[in-house]
Amino acid sequence: MNRRQFLQTSAEFAASAMLLSLGSVPSFAAPDAQENSVPWVTLNNGVRMPRLGFGTMTLKGDVSSVADAISLGYRLIDTAMIYNSEEAVGEGIKQSGIKREELFITSKLWKTDMGYEQARQGFQTSIDKLGTDYLDLYLIHRPSGGDWKGSWKAMEELYHAGKIKAIGMSNADFDQMDYLIANSEVKPAVHQIETHAFFQEGKAHDYLKQHGIIMEAWAPLAEGRHGLFTNDTLAAIGKKYNKSNAQVSLRWHYQRGIIAIPRSKRRAHRMENLNIFDFELEDSDMAAISKLDLNTSQFPEWS
Ligand SMILES: NC(=O)c1ccc[n+]([C@@H]2O[C@H](COP(=O)([O-])OP(=O)(O)OC[C@H]3O[C@@H](n4cnc5c(N)ncnc54)[C@H](OP(=O)(O)O)[C@@H]3O)[C@@H](O)[C@H]2O)c1
Repeated sequence: MNRRQFLQTSAEFAASAMLLSLGSVPSFAAPDAQENSVPWVTLNNGVRMPRLGFGTMTLKGDVSSVADAISLGYRLIDTAMIYNSEEAVGEGIKQSGIKREELFITSKLWKTDMGYEQARQGFQTSIDKLGTDYLDLYLIHRPSGGDWKGSWKAMEELYHAGKIKAIGMSNADFDQMDYLIANSEVKPAVHQIETHAFFQEGKAHDYLKQHGIIMEAWAPLAEGRHGLFTNDTLAAIGKKYNKSNAQVSLRWHYQRGIIAIPRSKRRAHRMENLNIFDFELEDSDMAAISKLDLNTSQFPEWS
């Protein structure tokens, strides 16, 4: 086993041990070297999901960024109806030449499509735009009003019909998660929420681990807000490993067992963000980053 494989395996083992000790279901499987360099995790329903992905918010019609991300090794692509990027993602997948079944595509149901019938329609519109006949993960984007429980029912049916491999939430509060955990036929597999060094969401992370739900970070780099790319603590840690602030941040998510989906229009950044599997943050690094938490959203305009 070379150093790189050792680092991957030990990080996965640590994460598995952490989850198993909490009695939760996801297991961090060993990486499949033939797939790509990003390790995958097994969700609470047995479906496998890459532990690092590519975000497409604001990319809209940027087909080449998506195709290039896939050619670089990203297999998880995060889109949403509201991003207007689903068609570009579909086209990027075609151009990449990578088989659909080797990819993990997430889309999200927007808040204007809440309710049973609307959710079925919203899902169909999304897969039509993506040019696929199924989604790997479908999330309720913002359950901030409307009949989101009706949407969940529709998603459960689509899940049972094999049209969605896993279902989950985004930006849900604890009461909504409690409701689903207690009452739903299909439990959420993933919860996607704002998470980065300045808003670490420790309480949500503990809760999700306890319930066997994988936490996924949106804005894993805080979109650079609050000076993330020039932060001194991250830079000092990065200097030890010859890594950038972005790479230290993404490695920190990875070692917490959180899936990050950084977005970039630049090839160099897309490559940089994938290159986080050949080093390991020490406990003291993780502790130093935990002190950066401001415990407040950096995106107040969205709450
Ligand atoms: N569920 C939700 O409500 C929700 C909300 C927001 C986002 N999301 C999802 O999460 C994804 C990621 O979040 P995000 O797009 O808001 O923000 P992000 O990934 O935290 O940050 C993206 C920004 O960071 C820059 N960047 C990326 N890599 C870099 C690097 N290595 N060095 C320096 N700058 C770098 C990008 O600029 P360049 O393009 O110049 O590289 C871009 O401006 C979204 O694309 C979307 O898929 C979901």
